[in-house]
Amino acid sequence: RKGGYEYFMLKEIHEQPEALRNTIAPRIVNGLPDFSEEGISDELLRNTKRIVITACGTAMHAGLVGRILIEKLTRIPVSVEIASEFRYANPILDENTLVITISQSGETADTLAALRLAKENGSMTLSIVNVKGSSIARESDFVLYTHAGPEIAVASTKAYTVQLSALYLFAFRFAFVKEKISQQKAQEYITLLEDTIDTVAYVLSYDTQIEAISQRLKSADDLFFIGRGLDYALSCEGSIKLKEITYIHSEAYAAGELKHGTISLITDNVPVIALATQADVYAKTISNVREVRSRGAKVILITNADVQVDASLCDHHIMLPPMEAEFTPFAAAVVLQYIAYYTAVARELNVDQPRNLAKSVTVE
Ligand code: F6R
Repeated sequence: RKGGYEYFMLKEIHEQPEALRNTIAPRIVNGLPDFSEEGISDELLRNTKRIVITACGTAMHAGLVGRILIEKLTRIPVSVEIASEFRYANPILDENTLVITISQSGETADTLAALRLAKENGSMTLSIVNVKGSSIARESDFVLYTHAGPEIAVASTKAYTVQLSALYLFAFRFAFVKEKISQQKAQEYITLLEDTIDTVAYVLSYDTQIEAISQRLKSADDLFFIGRGLDYALSCEGSIKLKEITYIHSEAYAAGELKHGTISLITDNVPVIALATQADVYAKTISNVREVRSRGAKVILITNADVQVDASLCDHHIMLPPMEAEFTPFAAAVVLQYIAYYTAVARELNVDQPRNLAKSVTVE
């Protein structure tokens, strides 16, 4: 069943190009994102004045990426709420708020409760769900299915990247319908999204490089992920993935927030995985890299292809293939999944079934 792979997680990492293709392709008509199959009308999108994304864990982290993209393209406010908090927070909702729930299983109790609360408060609900006919899918007004196929490993990988792709499709359609981007621009974005599938396939070949780096991470007690903007959203995901399967304590920090406390934890040989893929904040993140470096951190730096990285800046440099800044999350996700996976393997742990965790959390 594992198709020659040692663990389901590795198999599922490798299934990402196909999962992305299956999720993206059916939603493209004449080069534009199209949700008529899903019944998501332009009128609904036109009436949406605000979006609340709610989910748990990795699915919530996909929401963090979605927020940045949707707000950037449309200037319409988006908030991302942890479902277990949202459901008890007496949230402000109305009929012009679209509540997007994201869930691989479609059965997460807190996300389902958040969805029900949204409906009770008169908001329209759209769910991004992988499992057909699941509770969240059945109870939502609209469903945008991801087509990752079954995900067996507890640590979510392909479900996350297809959730990103669904959010990107949504953002492009939403921006187009709201007349924030032209038809030509929407088509250009779709082409770039399709190109991303090949980029993800290419990044799968980084396994040997990352396996070697993981050998140097396996004995760490604490580890930090830092980044800004989209890179911070990815840092959150990289951190949960690493800690859930390697049991190494890790934290994701917005790079600029380090000096407000956390930098006191950076001492000799503490690994810092720094994501610096966004040109607009590149110099800022690099200055944070220098700060942790000067305190002895072991730095693994992940950048785009278009920057020159001084060898003195980091211990390891992982360079993503050339791509537009908005699309780096797909490639960075694979790198972070590999870091978690190979570090867990190096620690001789049961990658697919980490202790205390269940694949689907149907209790509060
Ligand atoms: C982490 C992980 C969890 C899930 C979370 C939500 O790798 O898998 O954080 O993302 O429990 O699950 P779903 O998406 O099924 O609602």
